[in-house]
Amino acid sequence: MDVRAAVLAEYESVNELRELLEKYRGKRLLHIGQGSNLLFTKDFDGIILRSRMVRARALGENGDEVFIEAESGLVLDELISQLADMGLYGLENLSYIPGTVGASAVQNVGAYGVEAKDVIVDVRTIEAATGKERVFTNEECRFGYRDSIFKNELQGQYIVTHVVYRLLKHGEAHLDYGNLREAVQGKPTAMTVREAVIQIRRQKLPEVNELGSAGSFFKNPVVPAEQFETLKKAYPAIPNYPLENGTYKIPAAWLIEQCGWKGKAMGGARVYEKQPLVIVNADYATPQDIIDLAQAVSDSVKQRFGVTIRPEVNYI
Ligand code: EPU
Repeated sequence: MDVRAAVLAEYESVNELRELLEKYRGKRLLHIGQGSNLLFTKDFDGIILRSRMVRARALGENGDEVFIEAESGLVLDELISQLADMGLYGLENLSYIPGTVGASAVQNVGAYGVEAKDVIVDVRTIEAATGKERVFTNEECRFGYRDSIFKNELQGQYIVTHVVYRLLKHGEAHLDYGNLREAVQGKPTAMTVREAVIQIRRQKLPEVNELGSAGSFFKNPVVPAEQFETLKKAYPAIPNYPLENGTYKIPAAWLIEQCGWKGKAMGGARVYEKQPLVIVNADYATPQDIIDLAQAVSDSVKQRFGVTIRPEVNYI
């Protein structure tokens, strides 16, 4: 999209990051990963920070467990590819998700029944105001569905520099989501599961460098049991995932499809025909095209089902 930031500042070490924080103190800062989950609604009159720290190393082992420390700017899928080569289990279901290691912790990325939080041991950060290091344990990160403390109470206050993941040498493949089990060719290993996930994603989701999108535009809504029972009576076929606390997650893709949005366009923005949870930049969309289409989609879902769907994408 045709939007610009005043400054893009990249760094290759924690010290360089500290220098940039010092240089731009008092200015409006936004730290991004690959920008793959952002919608710039207009020009950004501030400093975009981006990590070019891209290494990973093994910290040690404990029996079957292997601890890997990865730097924030490393592309998550490059790390997952290396781990699959090494036969290490844990992150393979997150293959082919666009974005970086740093973002995997901020956003608690997830796919095919696994979330980053299942594998993260701790998250190493720098406090933006002071440049001081602080390590957040998994629990302190308060991970939720596409959510963490870094998107809430501490938004903008800490910059992730490293993430430590716990992988397993003899892990078990997580194959219960959708048609993943059938898609795996041969014996399920970190590598064959990775290959199956990539194949499924390629079929359903647009390639970001061919057709711009921010992945799922909306989060899947979670509704209380009573509301779910009412919906189920009216729509017996409604797909759903019962959660431990008695609530139900409903696929927003289904709600959107029922409202007839698949393939529909407004301006240059279009609801992706293979997966209506995704909004694509089909034809030189302006930010307003995307905002208008997203609003129209969520309004119609609200009107028909009484369910509020909220953007997963961050509006800047
Ligand atoms: N569905 C439809 N019509 C469609 C597609 C899907 O009705 O055209 C319904 C079906 O009932 C299907 C269900 O939606 O069973 C779930 O579809 P899918 O497995 O594609 O997953 P999703 O809920 O639409 C979520 C994540 C994706 C992640 C997949 C796989 C969110 C917001 N999205 O999508 O994450 O890849 O599961 O785990 O939770 C992302 O966050 O950017 C993202 C792509």
